[in-house]
Amino acid sequence: MTAAVPTRPGTYAVTGSASGIGRATADLLRAQGHSVIGVDLHTTGRLDSEVTADLATPAGRSAAAAQVLDIAGGELAGAILAAGVGPVGGGRHPRLIAEVNYLGAVELLAQWQPALAAGRPGKAVVIASNSATTTPLVPGRAVRALLAGDVDKALRATRLLGPGRPAVVYAASKIALSRWVRRTAVQPQWAGAGIRLNALAPGAVLTPLLQQQLDDPLEGKAVRRFPIPVGGFGAPDSLAQWACFMLTDAADFQCGSIVFVDGGTDALVRPDDWPRPVPARRLPGYLRTFLRGGTR
Ligand code: NAI
Repeated sequence: MTAAVPTRPGTYAVTGSASGIGRATADLLRAQGHSVIGVDLHTTGRLDSEVTADLATPAGRSAAAAQVLDIAGGELAGAILAAGVGPVGGGRHPRLIAEVNYLGAVELLAQWQPALAAGRPGKAVVIASNSATTTPLVPGRAVRALLAGDVDKALRATRLLGPGRPAVVYAASKIALSRWVRRTAVQPQWAGAGIRLNALAPGAVLTPLLQQQLDDPLEGKAVRRFPIPVGGFGAPDSLAQWACFMLTDAADFQCGSIVFVDGGTDALVRPDDWPRPVPARRLPGYLRTFLRGGTR
């Protein structure tokens, strides 16, 4: 397969660059001659620049965002937000999932918005997940709390869920992330500033994150039962190709999209849930948007 070539040369920030999808994307961008600034808890020694940071803490997120801006000289051709933790672990784990998967993407992007606008302008690809649409019983309150930036409230909304709690918090983090992308991408400071913000929603991809789930007695069973119509797991390299394609000029007309690359699980589990017509209760807001809008 020929690799997709990002047509805008420049500097790309990649979070989660030490492993899995983030690492494969950083390697592909570098192989195409771009400068890559990696952000991760761990270093690899393979990138032009690496920022070591813990995206689970406010201080880690803001230091990481600032260091990237410093190295990039205030201009980013693109950003790939791939850092994430999966639903396996105990103790502080649900908080870690919410902080890294949701705030670790949206807080960095908020700080990078001016640099992306300056990057001729830039493109951002957030790695979401098909867990957002295939995990049952995710409390809406948890998703709304994350969108409001209130991790404590989101965790309270899931506290009675027992052993399935980390998987539900993981799904809530990815629903909130996907909705944040859709809400934010269309804003004047983003679409209006020329930035293209979209999300890639992988299904089960064979990375260390998935392997950790497969090795866990409870999660491993669930992952092996997860129906994937095309069979097998996805490969990080092919997800990297999709992420890079979403950085090319081919994505100039793509805005606020959630692109599923999941072997068909979402289509199998939710065949008729989307696309849907506009429901009657949404008509007032819908009409207001039309009155404001139009092709510029
Ligand atoms: P991975 O575990 O191979 O890589 C994740 C990277 O994020 C690691 O390098 C890790 O060090 C970094 N990271 C984790 N916590 C961090 C923190 N506190 N601060 C800084 N960096 C941190 O995982 P994978 O599979 O490549 O995941 C990438 C993204 O794709 C994640 O957002 C994940 O949720 C998402 N995803 C993965 C799927 C899969 O089946 N592998 C399926 C759907 C979505």
